[in-house]
Amino acid sequence: DYFHPSKKELAGKTILISAGPTIERIDPVRYLTNRSTGKMGFALAEEASKLGAEVLLVSGVTTLPVPKGVSLYPIESAEDMYKTIMELYPKADAVIKSAAVADYRPVEISDKKLKKKDGELVIQFERTQDILFELGQKADKPFLVGFAAETDHVAEYASGKLKRKNADMIVANDVSAEGAGFAGDTNIVTIFRRDGSIKELPLLSKHDTAKEVLLEIAESLKEGRK
Ligand code: CTP
Ligand code: CA
Repeated sequence: DYFHPSKKELAGKTILISAGPTIERIDPVRYLTNRSTGKMGFALAEEASKLGAEVLLVSGVTTLPVPKGVSLYPIESAEDMYKTIMELYPKADAVIKSAAVADYRPVEISDKKLKKKDGELVIQFERTQDILFELGQKADKPFLVGFAAETDHVAEYASGKLKRKNADMIVANDVSAEGAGFAGDTNIVTIFRRDGSIKELPLLSKHDTAKEVLLEIAESLKEGRK
């Protein structure tokens, strides 16, 4: 505020954030998506901008307004997100992957509307690229932060993802817990780090959660800590 201006802990840094759901088309009138609303990612973008960062926001389709000072790169599919992030990541000091990326897409997208027939419909799916994993393999990889929304075995799955994807930080939440679901304005997260440290945050608004996560990242960038 005016009398106690908050420090610009991310001044001079560029933060690339992915947010929202992806859409995987089946035909011109149908697609598969997920329950992500983009709220957590957009809160991260807004708070990062307030902390003085240059913010690049790669987002799937949401109903949210673009925060002031943030550059939006709109995408639809996991493939679009992959391409956009691969172009942008060399500019970034840190990448935060809060998007809910589809793990599978239909092998074929029909260019005509599928007509119903008797019997069952079988759609074949193939794996999408794991963007966070791919970033983790880069020689010039920025500080990498993943999100993990789990319904069970949160610590085990989150630390598994941290290692497998070669990330620096995984922000995990139990989406089955009260106050930590998809569309809400609050979250309860635990931060897992490469050095084995674990930090549990209490029930906070998504904005306060975002700020805490960003201050942790700012600290790490300052210290060159992984
Ligand atoms: N992620 C990604 N690209 C994908 C899938 C996931 O970059 N194709 C990122 C997410 O944005 C998130 C992290 O990886 O930051 C963890 O995503 P999650 O879905 O929890 O992990 P998966 O490895 O896909 O494992 P699963 O869905 O089986 O739990
Ligand atoms: Ca997944």
